[in-house]
Amino acid sequence: MSNEKTLVLVKPDGVQRGLIGDVIGRLEKTGLKIVGLKLIKINDELAGKHYAEHKEKPFFEGLVKFITSSPVVALVLEGNNAISVTRKTMGSTNPVDSPPGTIRGDFAIDLGRNIIHGSANETDAKREVDLFFDENELSQYSRSNDEWITE
Ligand code: RTP
Ligand code: MG
Repeated sequence: MSNEKTLVLVKPDGVQRGLIGDVIGRLEKTGLKIVGLKLIKINDELAGKHYAEHKEKPFFEGLVKFITSSPVVALVLEGNNAISVTRKTMGSTNPVDSPPGTIRGDFAIDLGRNIIHGSANETDAKREVDLFFDENELSQYSRSNDEWITE
């Protein structure tokens, strides 16, 4: 879809392993525009809301413990098909199934330590962007090379 927004998190493992720059660099190079960016510590309440769809799953408790264990970098990316372009750049949920060239395929080997979160669909993206960012934390701006990225 045209001019979508999506929420990305560089998860605690990505921050601890010094991969913030690599992860953001790959996403930036796609041409998507960063319109929101911050380092935050997720608390239990925010983690519960963010992962509400997984509340009944056996891995929920571990997931919340992990995502609250260290700061994360939260960013909002904007552009045509931002959600699917970001998911493609991330790779599959399980790094073992992620091909080389994807973030998870290149930087991770474990399902529970897969470096990055990206919104799964439009509904989730809207909900997650609102959950992590106030309206005044998002910037609207144009870049001089936008016409070389999108026709
Ligand atoms: P994410 O939400 O983190 O972007 O990942 P995803 O959509 O690819 O995966 P999702 O199904 O939403 O699961 C969220 C995170 O939970 C962990 N997970 N563990 N032990 C398990 O069976 C299991 N399944 C999922 C993963 O770290 C996944 O990213
Ligand atoms: Mg998900």
